[in-house]
Amino acid sequence: MMLCILLKKTAEINMLLVKSVVILLIEAIITTGRKLQTNSIKLAKLTAAKLKIPYVDRKNSAIEKFFEVYGVKYVLVAKKNSLRLCTKNNEIFFHPSLAHLRIKNILNGEGDRMIEAMNLKCGMKILDCTLGLGADSIVESFIVGNEGNVTAIEINKYLAEVVDHGFKNFSADNVNVIESMRRINVINADYIDFLKSAADNSFDVVYFDPMFRHPLNKSVSLNLIRDVADHRALTIEAINEAVRVAKYRVVMKENSRSLEFDRLGFKKILGGKYSPIHYGVIEKNFCQSA
Ligand SMILES: C[S@@+](CC[C@H](N)C(=O)[O-])C[C@H]1O[C@@H](n2cnc3c(N)ncnc32)[C@H](O)[C@@H]1O
Repeated sequence: MMLCILLKKTAEINMLLVKSVVILLIEAIITTGRKLQTNSIKLAKLTAAKLKIPYVDRKNSAIEKFFEVYGVKYVLVAKKNSLRLCTKNNEIFFHPSLAHLRIKNILNGEGDRMIEAMNLKCGMKILDCTLGLGADSIVESFIVGNEGNVTAIEINKYLAEVVDHGFKNFSADNVNVIESMRRINVINADYIDFLKSAADNSFDVVYFDPMFRHPLNKSVSLNLIRDVADHRALTIEAINEAVRVAKYRVVMKENSRSLEFDRLGFKKILGGKYSPIHYGVIEKNFCQSA
């Protein structure tokens, strides 16, 4: 009798341990919006298979409940042909509004400091190492056009998927924005691995927009991704690799008062006197076409 109770208790403890390990291993799940639509279920299941995460029926539950029940860091939601990435604090979704405004300004003849710093031209091949919510990549793609191309890297696979899905599916009237984002090639990777595997001079410009060492809290879009983004500082190794991979220049965006420019060897700094953001430029010996 005693032995039976002991064995039952041990089995219960083992079961608990297995459950905890399973919960610890699941970083994310995917579900649908509350309003059940066949398209959303299909998108959720396809994304679940692609990202290798469990699909869970919504069953009218609040998203907060999923964090409690599954102990996950991320809950993805497939809703109205879009993907949303929820954390306990935020709901992240793709929207090209910032890029839309910048492209509108460019078409009205206004300058764009990023384009100037990168010296972007039609037909160029760009490596954007820090996709984030994709606004910079869309503007780059708009400038390099059909004959050029933009490859954008993002280390967080859920953010990369949400933005890539947005690039491919978001619809709006603005043809310039839509065509620019459809052309972007998103890759989920650590930029250091990607750079190491890339050939010398294989991209015209390599661009970094890392999470600032001292954030500008006014940036609403960056506040949104703060708890999903990788905050590690750029390394000298990454800059050296970028210089090898870039044909013309390496550009880094940072807080205008940042010490990162100096630490990483950026001697040429561009940006308005009162602008909170500056661009560091490392030019290579090649003569960049004017
Ligand atoms: C400041 S955000 C970029 C914002 C972007 N330029 C935009 O227009 O939305 C920086 C992004 O780089 C990503 N990141 C940081 N380190 C990375 C790495 N080693 N490899 C790839 N992506 C990285 C972060 O996860 C974050 O999403």
